[in-house]
Amino acid sequence: MLQGKCVVLGVTGGIAVYKAVELLRLMIKAGADVHVIMTRSAQEFVTPLTFQTLSGNPVHTELFNLIQEQDIGHISLADSADLVLIAPATANFVGKVANGIADDLLSTTVMATKAKVLFVPAMNTNMWENPLYRQNQKHLEELGYHFVEPVYGELACGWQGQGKMPDPQVVFNSAHALIGSKDFAGKTLLVTAGPTREEIDPVRFLSNYSSGKMGFAIARASRDRGARVILVSGPVHLADPKGVETIHVTSAQEMYREVTEKASEADVVIKAAAVADFRPVERGEQKTKKGDTETMAIALQRNPDILAELGKQKGSRVLVGFAAETEKLLRHAREKLQKKNLDILVANDVTQDGAGFDGETNIVRFLTADGQTEELPLMTKDEVAEKLLDRILTLLPKD
Ligand code: PMT
Repeated sequence: MLQGKCVVLGVTGGIAVYKAVELLRLMIKAGADVHVIMTRSAQEFVTPLTFQTLSGNPVHTELFNLIQEQDIGHISLADSADLVLIAPATANFVGKVANGIADDLLSTTVMATKAKVLFVPAMNTNMWENPLYRQNQKHLEELGYHFVEPVYGELACGWQGQGKMPDPQVVFNSAHALIGSKDFAGKTLLVTAGPTREEIDPVRFLSNYSSGKMGFAIARASRDRGARVILVSGPVHLADPKGVETIHVTSAQEMYREVTEKASEADVVIKAAAVADFRPVERGEQKTKKGDTETMAIALQRNPDILAELGKQKGSRVLVGFAAETEKLLRHAREKLQKKNLDILVANDVTQDGAGFDGETNIVRFLTADGQTEELPLMTKDEVAEKLLDRILTLLPKD
């Protein structure tokens, strides 16, 4: 994904430096050649040796280092970079760059590069809100520098508020969106996510535990790899991904209508949504009263099977389904693959720790129409999304 890309990772001094170590690991895993520059204060938090060991490259610390300067270090780093990524970026460092100060190796490299520059600010919430800081960031954004916003949470200084560096995976995704390969350019992907809700009456519904995280991860990864993405989502608590056409639905019938209408535009349909198989035959107009009875039965009727419907008119479209199982994973998954005429079925045993609903991770197997099965270890849902897209790519016609 970042094969052949050169990333200069600039680390400035803040408690979030430890997250830069994980970020470096993700970059290396994605195939990037990473060169780390640490400011003096960053070295107070983590030693250069940690970054050197993980990156496999010497860590740069000094502007005037006779050995590193044989090829004018800061200029050669600035020239060879596809991306200069500053994580964490202190208020001081952002202020320096915004005001054209180049007084150490990192600020000089930022000044000298023509590559994209991505800042990942992390600081005390009052500093983050300070008009001086805001003005510096705005100025840099207007000049074309990129930023990943910090998140809310408990800060090292004890304050609660915005200022925390986001998870390394989120930063990685932003970096990838800037320089990663656009191997899905020209393709339209239709992705579904989240649960559906089947109303019993105005205050009650039948649903499931899907959070939408798996489907949203696929939508973001597809967007970052250059696809046009249409996301049809059931009710979730996630922000609409930027740059993705997001359609909100509530029930399985609504999802059916939207998906079948949009499918004709799609080269690939990926159904990560957990769609309710049944809905109440009748929806009460008013809140159902409990009366005197000890038990109650709700008559249910089948919802349309959206994926099976698409499988009937598949054409050259790549169709991907998910299966959430609690037993006989492979048997049930292969049955679904065949019955719904799919190209790939992503099977997850939702009883396993770290797999399935709501968490940040999943454990999946890819079953393909040619009878193969690939078993993947526990990984983040973002990583599963990347692996799935790699698989899908092999099924798309080469342009
Ligand atoms: O959203 P998260 O919290 O991140 O959780 C992710 C997940 C567990 C929901 C996801 O990984 C997953 O497994 N999604 C599919 C769950 C499911 O509904 O599986 P199923 O076996 O019931 O359905 C099989 C496939 O048919 C699915 O692709 C489903 O979208 C589709 N289907 C099912 C019923 C229906 N009426 N129409 C459909 O299209």
